[in-house]
Amino acid sequence: MRILGIETSCDETAVAVVEDGRRLLSNVIASQVEIHRRYGGVVPEVASRQHIIQIMPMVSEALGQANTSLGNIEAVAVTHGPGLAGALLVGVNMAKGLALVLGVPLVGVNHLEGHIYAAWLNDGRPEEEPGFPLLCLIASGGHTDLILMKGHGEYKLLGRTRDDAAGEAFDKAARILGLGFPGGPEIQQAAENVQANERLPRAWLKGTHDFSFSGLKTALLHRAQAADLYPPGDMDEGMRKGMVKELAAAFQDSVVDVIVTKTLDAAAEHKARGVVLGGGVTANALLRATIQASADLPVLIPPPVLCTDNGAMVGACGYFHLSCGREEGLDLDVDPSLVLG
Ligand code: KG4
Ligand code: ZN
Repeated sequence: MRILGIETSCDETAVAVVEDGRRLLSNVIASQVEIHRRYGGVVPEVASRQHIIQIMPMVSEALGQANTSLGNIEAVAVTHGPGLAGALLVGVNMAKGLALVLGVPLVGVNHLEGHIYAAWLNDGRPEEEPGFPLLCLIASGGHTDLILMKGHGEYKLLGRTRDDAAGEAFDKAARILGLGFPGGPEIQQAAENVQANERLPRAWLKGTHDFSFSGLKTALLHRAQAADLYPPGDMDEGMRKGMVKELAAAFQDSVVDVIVTKTLDAAAEHKARGVVLGGGVTANALLRATIQASADLPVLIPPPVLCTDNGAMVGACGYFHLSCGREEGLDLDVDPSLVLG
């Protein structure tokens, strides 16, 4: 079954064609990052307008790259929350129009569930999937959630961030250090091959599966202020760069240590058969390497391009919804604060 997956919840206009939930036929993404960079973050109204400009070309491009046409699309899946209301509306209305004209099912996908299903895009090799229950970590710009997945469509939220999401913390930390937006890749690059001597705090919130990153962010701010990095003082450029690298590495070490430890603890406690990572932060190279090295159970980590927002994950998730008989009517609405589990 060929499904068109559409994602417009934030700042990527993304469309993909997915076959049978596991095989990626095309995956195109129009990123707005260059536009939002100048504001240091995503501007909702600008995002919606860009989606309107990009959505039609992206649908055509996705069909073209998959060597297919609308007539061969058997269902349309779209993210309907959580996210920015005006941004979500563009994708949802496009999906409704296509489903209506083509006379095919319409499937509404929770963006977070989509991030989980990126792990199913394994070129159609179900025998490599570890089975349920799975412990899922979703770490993105808006969420840091630990979710127990008991079966397709069955979720229990075990823990979440009490303040900043991990991606939000990366973005704020990058701003403090004078690095660009989005902060995650900038911090990763600055920290590359740096062995941090400094140790920034870790919030363990023992006895819970929750996270907190705001204390770490404040500790980083105080260190940056003490080192004259924030606000930027007059200093030798080489020295400034060295301090930024050191603090970027110390920050990344702290986030990765907490996320990996808490994810594996939750997996052990709930006797998970595997761990699934999803969301932009799980594109982080140190996080990927550390969890693979520390885990004694299978860890499914999609390639980085499927960890950040994309339409493929929406198409994959839509397939499994349809397999369970779930589809929506044309009254499907957006829900900016849709929850999972
Ligand atoms: O999942 P995503 O693309 O969009 C949301 O659903 O929020 O996640 C975006 C977040 C941003 O905060 C970005 O800084 C972070 O993911 N991110 C990373 C990396 N790549 C993206 N964080 C750490 N390391 C990375 N390599
Ligand atoms: Zn996302």
